[in-house]
Amino acid sequence: MTAIQYELIKTCKQSGARLGRLHTPHGTIETPIFMPVGTLATVKTMSPEELEEIGAQIILSNTYHLWLRPGHDIVQEAGGLHQFMNWDHPILTDSGGFQVFSLSDLREIEEEGVRFRNHLSGEKLFLSPERAVEIQTALGADIIMAFDECPPYPATYEYMKTSVERTSRWAERCLAAHKNVERQGLFGIVQGGEFKELRKQSAEELVSLDFPGYAIGGLSVGEPKPTMNRILEFTTPLLPENKPRYLMGVGSPDSLIDGAIRGIDMFDCVLPTRIARNGTCMTSTGRLTVRNAEYARDFRPLDEECDCHVCKTYTRAYIRHLIKTNETFGFRLTTYHNLHFLLKLMENVRRAIAQDCLLDFKEEFFERYGFYKP
Ligand code: GUN
Ligand code: ZN
Repeated sequence: MTAIQYELIKTCKQSGARLGRLHTPHGTIETPIFMPVGTLATVKTMSPEELEEIGAQIILSNTYHLWLRPGHDIVQEAGGLHQFMNWDHPILTDSGGFQVFSLSDLREIEEEGVRFRNHLSGEKLFLSPERAVEIQTALGADIIMAFDECPPYPATYEYMKTSVERTSRWAERCLAAHKNVERQGLFGIVQGGEFKELRKQSAEELVSLDFPGYAIGGLSVGEPKPTMNRILEFTTPLLPENKPRYLMGVGSPDSLIDGAIRGIDMFDCVLPTRIARNGTCMTSTGRLTVRNAEYARDFRPLDEECDCHVCKTYTRAYIRHLIKTNETFGFRLTTYHNLHFLLKLMENVRRAIAQDCLLDFKEEFFERYGFYKP
């Protein structure tokens, strides 16, 4: 038995989006799904009990950060990440590939791996496909990711081709190093930037290695939204129907809907939690920056249509006051609401797929949310 099994329930007749279930060693999740990000073994400001309360089914954590602090050996001694942080549901860890490229200085990419400086201490470190798998094995997440290179946008065709081919060789080495196949599923990551041929080459090389799931990486790195949609349109059809597809680092409401329409099953992003700590909320009528002066005497909830605990209990005026005075409780309230908003959105997306009306749902949602239109 493999650790991860995808079950396709149906596709939306109107949009082609997929409704499915993903079976993992820590339970089954419904897809399409949004995964809140818990980089340092905590979704910032949220307790695991609160995550359960708002219906989070799976969370993401980061190999790179937990390797540096507290160290994967300590997490392993605690009994693994689930026990360490008291989250008894599925967890996915990213491989560190992306973080090495986005956070560290002075990196040198070699065939063997990446040499770089720790972004905290300046210490010299080395991460390779084998190391990334070893660390992720110690952390014990249900889904682990191959060590890849996420090149900057834009990159030249030549650079991207070299990078795609190296990422395929690294993926093969990750598979060879991955032994705990009964408890952890290893996903491959398709790269190739905006080049159709390279996405095809990357997808074909990874599919031939037969991973239990595939991610699409290298997106949401500064390209315009229509570019991302176009890349998804030619990339997802290259992936097997009976395996889950995960779009990495994407979490704006419009992109979640657009991704689902293009056959994506899983998403993660720091967006809802990061903007929450900045005093910005996602609501049914668009973004609301609650720290603004106009809300000082606004005694309505953050979102008048939201049924979350925060919206049933607290006012914009109160939350604005907390955020303005840097009170921790304010960040907890906005984070709770934003995550609830996205999880609820995905629930509505799943319902629309079940009812074959995701395009209608999208139109209605975009109309009110007032975002980009294709
Ligand atoms: N997170 C967002 N994009 C990426 C990517 O391309 N690779 C990895 N490993 N993580 C990501
Ligand atoms: Zn709310």
